[in-house]
Amino acid sequence: MARFSVNGQSHNIDVDPSTPLLWVLREQVGLTGTKYGCGIAATRSCSVPVSTVEGKQITTIEGLAQNGTLHKVQKAWIEHDVPQCGYCQSGMIMAVAALLKEKPNPTDADIDANITNICRWGTYQQVRAASHAATNA
Ligand code: FES
Repeated sequence: MARFSVNGQSHNIDVDPSTPLLWVLREQVGLTGTKYGCGIAATRSCSVPVSTVEGKQITTIEGLAQNGTLHKVQKAWIEHDVPQCGYCQSGMIMAVAALLKEKPNPTDADIDANITNICRWGTYQQVRAASHAATNA
């Protein structure tokens, strides 16, 4: 049994402890905003077994907005028209939100070093511009 909280809601889920968190979020919890990335990342849900989040608080893209108000990164994404197909964008937004929490005014080098998500549409310039815009929001 895995016990954790996602976006403020508690969950007790009967699942093999080695199941990647990604699949538990998508298939058991029903939050499909989290997408499969490369599967080899160090801390992303696709490579984190659900057993490692026992008792932890998890925030997914569905929980980033608070009380109906978009997060400043989500607002900047809309203002800069960042997404193309959209597949990578949940991960990009969550990665930038985490970066800004750690480093409220990142340089281009900080963004390039920390946002390692892959976009097959090459939205990296827009991601960088929106990240800077979010720092000023
Ligand atoms: S917008 Fe489609 S993969 Fe990045």
